Amino acid sequence: VNSNKINILNNVYNKTDLSNVTNNIIKHVGRNLHLQKNHPINNIREIIEKSIDSTSSKPFIKYNDLTPVVSIKQNFDDLGFPKNHPGRSKSDTYYINDTYLLRTHTSAHEVECFQKMQTLQNNGYLISADVYRRDEIDKSHYPVFYQMEGSKTWSRDNSKENFNKIQTEIDNMKKQLSTFQNLSIEDVDYTHEPESVNCKQSHMTDEETSILISHMKRTLELVVANLFMQRYKNYASSSKNNKKGEEVIPEIKMRWIEAYFPWTQPSFEIEVFFNGEWLEICGCGLVRELAYKNAGFTKETQMGWAFGIGLDRMAMLLYDIPDIRLLWSTDERFLKQFREKEGIFKFKPFSTHAVMSRDVSFWLNTSVHLNDFMELVREELGDMVESCSLVDEFVNPKTGRKSQCFRINYQHLDRNLTNEDVNELHKGVEKKLIEQFGAEIRN
Ligand code: PHE
Repeated sequence: VNSNKINILNNVYNKTDLSNVTNNIIKHVGRNLHLQKNHPINNIREIIEKSIDSTSSKPFIKYNDLTPVVSIKQNFDDLGFPKNHPGRSKSDTYYINDTYLLRTHTSAHEVECFQKMQTLQNNGYLISADVYRRDEIDKSHYPVFYQMEGSKTWSRDNSKENFNKIQTEIDNMKKQLSTFQNLSIEDVDYTHEPESVNCKQSHMTDEETSILISHMKRTLELVVANLFMQRYKNYASSSKNNKKGEEVIPEIKMRWIEAYFPWTQPSFEIEVFFNGEWLEICGCGLVRELAYKNAGFTKETQMGWAFGIGLDRMAMLLYDIPDIRLLWSTDERFLKQFREKEGIFKFKPFSTHAVMSRDVSFWLNTSVHLNDFMELVREELGDMVESCSLVDEFVNPKTGRKSQCFRINYQHLDRNLTNEDVNELHKGVEKKLIEQFGAEIRN
């Protein structure tokens, strides 16, 4: 094993000072849960693909096996991320070296897909893939998760025929949406003040901007309506309170809000009211000229929209899966439920094993980024940590040294950990803290 090299999917990369991808992360590359038959992430992907294909006479191109190793240029520069954007920081992103990283979003492939579009004679595509982000450890965050990206583009020929084609698709979607009797949608327009981040792009007309926004929003409303409808229907028919056998389907409440993404303008987010709160479901917007230019379109000939949706998040919400680690489980008690039933249903949690907490307190000469601590814990414990949090920190005014205390909640998904197991694991974490950060453990 040469520690100056990183091997991912049979390609070898030279490490640099920027490299921070760990073995634990590399182990997850290639699992492809989004393509695993009967897996909840795969099921959600299929439902969304079907909804989207129903909006158009031509099915969207599906890119489902693009490599997660992309260049910094693909992931950030080509999409107009400012140099100081926080997403680029080493504390948030897994860098392979000075050129490559593990994609932090499926948007990393937008420009190359716009390029391919030119020879494929198809203006719509969907990408589903694993994405990677350094983050905290809890029941809803995992450093690897899945996204679906979608986009549709039209040439800006300004012809009546072009507008009519788009309008016909919108009308069909509206018709589909009107068959749902329990939808409530609160919309928001784009900002009509020029210079605002959410105004139309200057080269586009008002007519183009509003027809595309309408096409994009109706497409995504259909996606969300189809997903939640399936969930409400299936949960209702298995519910005991349903005395008369009537289907009592709750209202599906959505709203549009303004958003910001460097490569779309104007940008929006769709939220759904679920379990008493508004949840962000999907970001989207009209593709900025910059992205089409970077794909090789000269002049301002193209217009279109793009969206990105988190598949794990949707799977957890819709199946009621309580812990994100379960998605990675190979335990039959998890997998068999999805083989036995199709569509969306309520997941039945199997016996969960005890959570055992241990605190670790230490002195540091320098400050350690929260995500760096989390990474050390993940690397050492893998899926045996349920969550982890900073419980206390202070600086000694005399020495300037910093003291931090973290609580690690240990839990194995498949078996009970003993006290001895946990003590041993915890010692391992302390050892790594000393080795990697020069920490002085406090007793
Ligand atoms: N990539 C964005 C994210 O990860 C989502 C997005 C995709 C937004 C496409 C706009 C257009 O949050």
